[in-house]
Amino acid sequence: RPVKIIGAPMDLGADRRGVDMGPSAIRYAGLAETIGALPRACIDVGDLPVTHPEQGDPDASPEGGRAKYLSEVESVCVGLAEEVAATLEEDAVPLILGGDHSIAIGSLNGSARTGDVGVVWFDAHGDFNTPATSPSGNVHGMPLAAVLGEGEFADAEWARAPTVAPENVALVGVRSLDDAEREALSDTDVTVFTMTDIDERGVIDVTEEALDVAGRGTDGVHVSLDLDWLDPDEAPGVGTPVRGGVTYREAHAAMEVVAECDLRSLEAVEVNPILDQHNRTAELAVELVASALGRRII
Ligand code: ARG
Ligand code: MN
Ligand code: MN
Ligand code: MN
Repeated sequence: RPVKIIGAPMDLGADRRGVDMGPSAIRYAGLAETIGALPRACIDVGDLPVTHPEQGDPDASPEGGRAKYLSEVESVCVGLAEEVAATLEEDAVPLILGGDHSIAIGSLNGSARTGDVGVVWFDAHGDFNTPATSPSGNVHGMPLAAVLGEGEFADAEWARAPTVAPENVALVGVRSLDDAEREALSDTDVTVFTMTDIDERGVIDVTEEALDVAGRGTDGVHVSLDLDWLDPDEAPGVGTPVRGGVTYREAHAAMEVVAECDLRSLEAVEVNPILDQHNRTAELAVELVASALGRRII
């Protein structure tokens, strides 16, 4: 299947400006050329329109909680969901470029519109806060909770994706959870693999089990790759780095396992070239996406 690149230059869900330049940085690192050489047909449809923080209202958030720029995040995600659904309709693989992780609400709603979708979420964080539990009010810490209809998101039709079942969602590489977030996660059927699991079992074994969780009884898997999943030594260009992440080799090994699954849609998020060193995090994103799409040495 051909790959369709969709840019989502969103920074409204995070505190750090610059993550809106992620799609440009990843393209500049040679994404389309690398995919084209796989070989795989690759079309780049450009960027979705995203409002700038100066145009939006940071305080427009639901009662009893805080979710900065939630209505602006909503409009971008509604547009993204359309684009992703249309891409699947054409039998292409949507490859979404972030932007902060709030865009996953749109990616998943698009991907899950015409089928049951499992999710593997590679991230240092759980992204399972709600407006009521979030310590920061940043929506990029909430997308997984939003899609599963937690808390205030229960009635948010644009956010909740009813065909994503918690028992088909797996987090991989987690090492930073807020207290209420940890509580909420343990009350669901979401599977959480921490860095300790990776230390004990190895990244290949853990990734295989995560894909198994996501693939069981579903029509395909959405893979969400937050670059802060890797150790900051490897991926310094992210807004919320956490020490103790996976190495370069572990990340590639995991993506090579991803290449064997029924991959429905893929996204790479949280690349912030302003915080980076010589665009190496974007270059890393290109390499990892290539491995996930089937690149091999021989
Ligand atoms: N847990 C923190 C929060 O909710 C950090 C979230 C980081 N998320 C991310 N996609 N980088 O604010
Ligand atoms: Mn911008
Ligand atoms: Mn993260
Ligand atoms: Mn994330």
